[in-house]
Formats: sequence, structure tokens, C-alpha cells
Amino acid sequence: MSDALVIFTPSGKRGRFALGTPVLTAARQLGVDLDSVCGGRGICSKCQISPGIGEYSKHGVTVAADALSEWNAVEQRYHDKRGLKEGRRLGCQAKVMGDVVIDVPAESQVHRQVVRKAATARAMTMDPATRLYFVEVQEPDMHEPSGDFERLAKALRTEWQVPEITAGLDVLRKLQPTLREGKWRVTVALHKDHKPGPHRVLDIWPGLYEGGLYGLAIDLGSTTIAAHLTDLRTGEVVTSSGIMNPQIRFGEDLMSRVSYAMMNPGGDIEMTRAVREGMDTLIAAITEDAQITAREIMEAVIVCNPVMHHLFLGIDPVELGQAPFALATSDAISLDIRDLGMKAMNPAARGYLLPCIAGHVGADAAAVALSESPETSEDLVLVVDVGTNAEILLGDKRRVLACSSPTGPAFEGAQISSGQRAAPGAIEKIEIDPVTKEPRFRVIGCELWSDEAGFDEATAQTGITGICGSGIIEAVAEMRMAGLVDASGLIGSAEQTGTWRCQPEGRTHAYLIHDATATGGPRITVTQGDIRAIQLAKSALYAGARLLMDEIGTDHVDRVVLAGAFGAHISSKHAMVLGMIPDALLKNVTSAGNAAGTGARMALCSIAARNAIEGTVRRIHKVETAIEPRFQEHFVNANALPHAVDKFPELGKIVTLPDVSFNTGGGDSDGGRRRRRRG
Ligand code: FES
Repeated sequence: MSDALVIFTPSGKRGRFALGTPVLTAARQLGVDLDSVCGGRGICSKCQISPGIGEYSKHGVTVAADALSEWNAVEQRYHDKRGLKEGRRLGCQAKVMGDVVIDVPAESQVHRQVVRKAATARAMTMDPATRLYFVEVQEPDMHEPSGDFERLAKALRTEWQVPEITAGLDVLRKLQPTLREGKWRVTVALHKDHKPGPHRVLDIWPGLYEGGLYGLAIDLGSTTIAAHLTDLRTGEVVTSSGIMNPQIRFGEDLMSRVSYAMMNPGGDIEMTRAVREGMDTLIAAITEDAQITAREIMEAVIVCNPVMHHLFLGIDPVELGQAPFALATSDAISLDIRDLGMKAMNPAARGYLLPCIAGHVGADAAAVALSESPETSEDLVLVVDVGTNAEILLGDKRRVLACSSPTGPAFEGAQISSGQRAAPGAIEKIEIDPVTKEPRFRVIGCELWSDEAGFDEATAQTGITGICGSGIIEAVAEMRMAGLVDASGLIGSAEQTGTWRCQPEGRTHAYLIHDATATGGPRITVTQGDIRAIQLAKSALYAGARLLMDEIGTDHVDRVVLAGAFGAHISSKHAMVLGMIPDALLKNVTSAGNAAGTGARMALCSIAARNAIEGTVRRIHKVETAIEPRFQEHFVNANALPHAVDKFPELGKIVTLPDVSFNTGGGDSDGGRRRRRRG
């Protein structure tokens, strides 16, 4: 026998190879995904494999005990130094000596699949832009004069088929001492852009580098900045952390920041500095937390809305504050992090900003699209990312539309009389008995309901402090279901509703949920003003979705995906009672968690994902709500709970909304039809 059959699992790839062929070589020839940093020198241990022995009827082979060459000195040396798991061999050392079945464990695969945590977990494939390569560089020779960098390039070309490289001054400065220290054996971190061009040398170490290789997926929001430190070799998130966006001092919402830039010469520069410094501080804290060095962080992928995008890049956002809302550029941007004056990463670290979809629909929405991929959906899916602005995507594999809608901060508990951020002590769930009209609730930080034994003791520490965003949605929806609020959004009086908890407040009424004033605590109510604020927010959200549905020519969606931290906590039934989202089967309303952050992580771990989202964004059809006349009409119709015109048949099957009306003819002093656009 001069050759043997080699079968790799889990890929199932197979081929015949001459006896004596190293397993790594066989894997490469078959296109099997087997990692190697040292190029087969037996020092990196990335090429580990597990040979199987015995009968493999499925593959029709019997593997003899000597199907691979004997354990050799190189493997023994590695084993003595680091230890190889039982049954493992180094693929670059073990040679094929007979028919064999070889398993490539997940950690030896470059393009391993990483399962995402989200409920709708799809696997994501590792394909990072930055990878390590170990090379032996020819020593200089007076007779063949050439630079050290050119000989490094040649070694990468011959050993790793890297056609062309480039490097910044930082790397060139340390090239010569590193080559000599490593005795002409070095490891380089190479960054391959997803666009054609030379590979970039980001860093170089003497000998085999065994330190970390990390990237950051950063969700740069108007209120918070969140960063996920990710291992670029495994795709795992090592640690995550967030801070408040320091720009808040220039304005709570985006449009107030744009006006700050308009009114104050140099205001944009101040805000740019603030956000970059904030991000640097956050990254430094994460680095310390994970006990790594700044040098080990090679890349950052940033997702953000258009205003943050411009301010972060140092582009004056004033054009985004006025029609036609022109972006300086909507394309994805690859850059040197150093050019932003940031210091908490490797000096050669690369940055990537996802493309913006339109003047109001940013790279954060693009990241949501990358994570949820509506463009591959068989059925019509509506994806909403609820924040101060709602980003809305609607589509299926035929076409995808996008818009953003100014919901304002009510869904986050702001502008609500008893509203607060989601924090311990905040009411997050509430039920109102339809007969007695009595409420029971749960607060963040306690598993018990308020009418259960032990609740008072369990909440003694945190207290009951207010209502968070998901709590206010449940409260208003429960009030509607219990007949305390009518379809127009009016709260009834004690006489009309039959509960003393509906108490007069000015010319309107408020529903009392919890009163701790006797012990110096707060009095938590839902006021008429709160209901109006929620109506404004939900009308904006629904009207945006409805506009996209018009554009597609449908009045029905198959699925609704709620994205964003808020979306993760919201009850789909209550959201539908309010008419925040169009009618759909409840089981088809799901939460995607932090989809923008997931999208950022996908782009960080895969250059294929970067290509994919750039292509998708080019094909997404943008709808501008600000100039669309039907938006106003949809907005007005959406003011009712759940809706003045649209039917909610699926909702009707599970909930019967009381047919009450509390308008006594005096009119609603609050002017429920008012609206204003917010940033
Ligand atoms: S390829 Fe590096 S040890 Fe085998």
C-alpha cells in the first residue's frame, strides 16, 4: 500500500494520500479547517487532532492502531512543556501511515462556529480580520542586499501565501530588534481588510507569541457606551462593561446635541473629545478588569446612530439636524484607531464602523440587520429596536425597508411621573385584577409579587422607588384591560371605574399603584400625562412600522422581533394591547436581546459578515418618516389603544378589551392629538 484513505470529521472531507504525508498537509489539501500559527514547526500546538481507532462502518474503514506515525520527539517536547490532552496529536507531526479517521476538535478550527447566546441563536462563523503568523525570516546577506521588512514580506509570501504586506512606522521601528531577539523567528499579527489591499502588520513579537489577541465590539449609544472584549481566536466575550456617554452633559437626546453643535462654535469638537475620552476610559477599565494589556487589543468594531457616528469621527453633525438629513458618508469606515487620538488599544489597532443606512438610520440599525438578517427571512419580519429613537426594519428575502421614528424617552421611563431607569426597586411587572381593580406588582431585585408573603421584607433594602420602562407599558396595558382607561387613553374617575384608586389630579385622574408616603416613601401613580406620553411614543413606533407596511403593500406581518435591552424585558402581550406593534400571533413576537451589540460582535469576528452587511445595507430601501405625509395620518390613528382603525384579530383571541368610554363631553384637557418630533 503506497497511499491511504484519510477522513476528517466533523467536515466529512476525505482523500487518499501518500504514506508519510503529515496530517496538516492532508488537511490543507482537502481544505479542512485545521489551525496553525507556526506553519507546521511543532511549536504552536494549534494543529491538534484526535485520531480514531477501530471500526468505522459509517465511513467503511477500519483504523489500525498504527494508522498514524509514532508519537515523536517534537510532540513529546510539547507535551512535557505544556501537556497535550489524552488522545491528541499534533497534526503537523503525525503522518498518515494507514487508513484513518481524524477528528478536528473545535479549538483547532480557525473558522469554528460560535453559538450566540440570544434566544434565536444562530451560529456565527469565526473569520477574523486579525490573525497571528509565525515565520522564519532570512538573515541579511551583504551579497543580496534587501531590507528586513522586505525579507519578512518574502517569508510571509512563501510560508503563508500572503501576497503583500504593509506596516506603520511603529512596527517598522521595532522590526529590527525583534527579528534579532527572536533569532529571525517572529510572530506577526496581520490584519486583512475585507476590501482588496495589502495585509497590514499590526504588531510583531520575537519567537512564538503566546499572548492574547483581542478585539472590542462597541455599542456607542446616545445614553450609554457598552463594550464587549472578545477573544479574536475563539469569538468568546471575555468581559463586557459600560459607562454613561459623557456627552450627556451637552444634551440628553441627539437633537439637543446637534443644536449644541449649531449654537456653540467648537461645540462639536468638545463633544468629539468627550466621547473619545469616555471610550478610552471604558477600554482601559475593561483591560484592567480582564488583566490584559492595551497592546493585546488589535481591533474595535463600533456601531452607533448617525449623530454619534459623526461626533465620534469628528465630523460636525449639523447636516443631520435638518432636511434632507445628509450624512457625510454612509459607507462603512475602516481606520486606524490612533487617528482618533485614542490610546487604550494597540497603537496600530484598526477600527471598523458599520455603514449607516440613512440620515436617521445608523450603523446601529445596520448591526441589528446583521444580527437578525431579515433579508434571509422566508416570512415577513418586523424588527424594532426601541430606544429614544426606534429603528424599524421590515422585510423578507425579497426586500427590506428601514426607517427610524422619534419615540422619545417615555419607553425608557423618562418623562413619566413615577418613571425611573431599570434599577433595583423599580416596578417592572404589574397585574391589575379586572374585578377588584387592585394591583399587584414585582420590582427589580425581588422575585416575589407584592401580595406574596415576605415581599415587604425582601424589598426593605431597595424600597419601591418608581416604574421602569417595561413596567409602565404593563401598567398602561393592564389599566386598559381592567377597564380603567378607555380606548382614547382617558383614565376614568372613581365613580366610572368603581375603584378608589382612580383619584382626581387636576382636571384628570391618576391610578394609584403604591403609596408609601406614610413611611416617607414615594406615591407611585400612573397619571393622565403618563398615558399621553406613552401614547405619543407608541404612536410614533406604530406609525413607522405602518409606513413600511404600506410601502410593501401589506397590513399584516408574520413575525415581530423586539431588539434592544428594553425589548428583552417587554411583555409582548402588553405591547400589543397598547398597539405598540402590529397584530401578530403572540408566539411570533420574540426578543432578540441586544441585537446591535451582537451585530457588532459578528462584524468583529468575521470579515465575511462585514462584506455581507455592506451589501445588505446597499439594498435596504430607506423611508424617511419626517417628510412622509402618511406618517402623520398613521400617527393620529395609532393614538387609540390599541388602534383607531387597524384591527387586532390575534390579540382579540386572547384578550377582550372592555368597551368603556370616559369622555363626559367636556373634552380631554390634555390634547391627546398633539405631537412633536424628538431626536
Ligand atoms: S502547526 Fe504549530 S504545532 Fe503544529
